[in-house]
Amino acid sequence: MSNSPTKIELTQPDDWHLHIRDGEVMKDVLADTARQFARAIIMPNLKPPVTTVDLAKAYQSRIESNLKLLGVTEFTPLMTLYLTDNTSADEVRKAKDAGIAAFKLYPAGATTNSDAGVSDLKHCHAALEAMQAVGMPLLVHGEVTHADIDIFDREAVFIDTVLEPLRKKLPELKIVFEHITTKQAAHYVRDAVTGGKNTIAATITPQHLLMNRNAIFAGGIRPHNYCLPVLKREEHRVALLEAATSGNSRFFLGTDSAPHAKGAKEAACGCAGCYSTFNALGLYAEAFESVGKLDKLEGFASFFGPDFYSLPRNSKKITLAKQAQSIPMELPLGDATIVPLRAGETIAWSLV
Ligand code: DOR
Ligand code: ZN
Repeated sequence: MSNSPTKIELTQPDDWHLHIRDGEVMKDVLADTARQFARAIIMPNLKPPVTTVDLAKAYQSRIESNLKLLGVTEFTPLMTLYLTDNTSADEVRKAKDAGIAAFKLYPAGATTNSDAGVSDLKHCHAALEAMQAVGMPLLVHGEVTHADIDIFDREAVFIDTVLEPLRKKLPELKIVFEHITTKQAAHYVRDAVTGGKNTIAATITPQHLLMNRNAIFAGGIRPHNYCLPVLKREEHRVALLEAATSGNSRFFLGTDSAPHAKGAKEAACGCAGCYSTFNALGLYAEAFESVGKLDKLEGFASFFGPDFYSLPRNSKKITLAKQAQSIPMELPLGDATIVPLRAGETIAWSLV
């Protein structure tokens, strides 16, 4: 591939971290997702959260009904369960048998609908041991939530006080450090010693590859650039971009696209989350192109995720072209509207 191609063909990607919500809004979000991705890891932070296999199966069938309404036949939701202080080892084994893809750890209070999250990992030991035993991945929202920790330090403190001790205790547990935002996280995952086993990986969002924390305050408060973990300094963005484009299979695509209606974002206490799905692949292509690494996009977007989850790679191909796409100011979201990431701007790459 030349350094500045105008078209690239990729094996169809998957989104390894996605919020599609429930009810009315789900259909609009699924339409944007299924246009680009073959599969997605569906986050369980509904209200109430998806804490059991039965709840996940019911959620899955609501997703499937919406896919049917959309006429989508080639998209597979990969269901996850929300880990709580009370998750039992039995539920973990039941989840494995039922084809649940992973459990998600939200530290209590870390983000949207995380009140039922884990207060202390020591309450979950039996469940975590069972995950290790059956090969069930644990997806972590890697932030500590103590009020005395600066919001920009939450991820680094999580590595030292939660993640490293957990990996010492359960070295064979498969962990995905979700939506990493710092140099510390990128280097931790890159340098982790695993004895050749696939036990640690990380997802990276488009916004953390393309923006630093200035974007939240550019000329005034920019609620649509606010997500959790919050954008960090430029040096962190650079480290994430280096990790994503390095060809290291521990880093793969997870948009963390997290829709909130316009009114819930543009509010005195606005919700966290960027809606990046509308042209997510264009955003990733822009990031990879910025460092001349478009040739590394396919591994990140299409190969390393399924390899980590021990799922087959997709066989279908897609084409991205250097064809500017204007991003609308608003999109429909059920009865409301949503402001997509980069609304009113253009993205150089789009799906053909
Ligand atoms: O910004 C975020 N929004 N981060 C998360 O971890 C959750 C998500 C959401 O569900 O809105
Ligand atoms: Zn998320």
